[in-house]
Amino acid sequence: MSGFPYEEQFGVNRTLPENGMEQDAVLSMLSAMSSAENPVWEGGQCSGTMYCGDHDHYDFLNLAFSQFSYVNSLQRDMCPSATKCEAEIIAMTLDLLGASNVKDTTPVGLVTSGGSGSIAHAVLAYREHHPTSGRPNIIKPETAHPAFSKAGHLFGVEMKIAPVDPTTTQVELEWVKANIDENTIALIGSACNYGYGTVDPIGELGALALEHHVGLHVDGCLGGFILPFGRELGYDIEPFDFSVPGVTSISADTHKYGYALKGTSVLCFADQALRNDQYFYLTDWSGGKYCSPGMDGSRSGGLLAATWAAMVHLGHEGYLRYAKEIFATSATMQAAVREHPSLRLMGKPTFLFSFTSDEFDIYLVNDFLRTRGWRLNGQQYPNALHMAVTRPQTQPGVVERWKTDLADAVAYATKHKDELPKSGAIYGGVEGGPSEAVRRHHQILHGRHDGQAVLHPLVMRRRDRALSQHRLRHRWTEGWSRHARRARSSLYEVHHVATHYSEDGGATQDADRVVDAHHRCDEATSRDVEYSR
Ligand SMILES: Cc1ncc(COP(=O)(O)O)c(C=O)c1O
Repeated sequence: MSGFPYEEQFGVNRTLPENGMEQDAVLSMLSAMSSAENPVWEGGQCSGTMYCGDHDHYDFLNLAFSQFSYVNSLQRDMCPSATKCEAEIIAMTLDLLGASNVKDTTPVGLVTSGGSGSIAHAVLAYREHHPTSGRPNIIKPETAHPAFSKAGHLFGVEMKIAPVDPTTTQVELEWVKANIDENTIALIGSACNYGYGTVDPIGELGALALEHHVGLHVDGCLGGFILPFGRELGYDIEPFDFSVPGVTSISADTHKYGYALKGTSVLCFADQALRNDQYFYLTDWSGGKYCSPGMDGSRSGGLLAATWAAMVHLGHEGYLRYAKEIFATSATMQAAVREHPSLRLMGKPTFLFSFTSDEFDIYLVNDFLRTRGWRLNGQQYPNALHMAVTRPQTQPGVVERWKTDLADAVAYATKHKDELPKSGAIYGGVEGGPSEAVRRHHQILHGRHDGQAVLHPLVMRRRDRALSQHRLRHRWTEGWSRHARRARSSLYEVHHVATHYSEDGGATQDADRVVDAHHRCDEATSRDVEYSR
């Protein structure tokens, strides 16, 4: 046996089955796999990732999804419902994030495929909106999500990494200020960051952004749909939304605390012009005039329907009720951490908290907690563990288990403090420094993708197989940067094509016509949000 998932129960498909399987058989295999996997998080001992955790809610979203799962929302003439759902998702998100405070520009949004998608579109928009003489750069706190670095890598934007204060875990403003230069196009702040659940000083970042005429993107991928409710409940969370002068865009993931299905996020812009600068047009293609509002081409209407369904079903009262339970649970779990003098909470956490120890390696605590079924997220520099509290933790009994298991884990770590921990997680504790860690991560990715996901047909000739394995290996090592360079230059090319055509009368008309469809979405959006202008 190769260790390939479910090989023993269901075998491995290396080619299309000669004769198709009955629907019932297919569904029963899928059901067996999901039943085997759900208990990992259902008990409430898994950090983050499952935000709602309520199977009735998922069933409801799946029904909503099924109405339009096969519809391509790119073909808007066939599905006005997609325009309704998308426009209302954007309007509701803009409203939640304080867009009514925007006075001089028109706030708009974009529904993307997830947090990384929203961040990538934001980086692209800033690059297009702020032409620079040299290589553009963005200043991001070290704690901001890797998706910014990934987007910078793809779009040729340098990420300047601002250090954070080790006690508060917030970005060091003096460093940001000293490092803004003529090629800086935007600053980043998180509300909140993935690692510590802390919120950067958005007000001060906004003031810097205004002073230097650069953008400020607030990463609310994780917090965008829960922090506003935390503030409403009276938790001490600084303003981070469009009410803060200088904030020009905010990402907020519907597929996290928006309690929608996986695959959507909302990217909100204070100014329509900023969003529109990353639109893509190819008006002289032989296949027809092509325009898409973001990087995706075809998108499932089902995801828009399910996201919309989650939002209108829960409503303000539902989101507030869930936030109340989550914040209260997180506060109780944090209090349990504070009871142990050998543990130290990092900064001023929110619904997500992180802790470390100055007395032993915190991964010893993790080693023990794993034996009791807990799945926390591992961090490094310093080693720390984080718990993103979601609805599954709010179930009766989970907090009590946390208190008992944490106490036992601290006793274990104290007793074994001279030993090396077994866990280190993918983010932490890889021996041998950064280059060794990179090598290990390549191995992990190789194992996951080439070793498992790529199953070569048994019939493949050996020579072909060797060749294709060589190609895959190549792609995963040096090849990646070549790919990125090619992607980058083709995007620049696209940019130039668009600019060229917008200077040329004939094609401008085409481009205008194509963009009309998206404007319809904007109109619907602004109809639904009452801007006080
Ligand atoms: C703060 C923050 N930003 C961005 C992301 C990226 O989101 P996604 O995994 O949906 O691409 C995450 C994911 O956890 C996050 O926590």
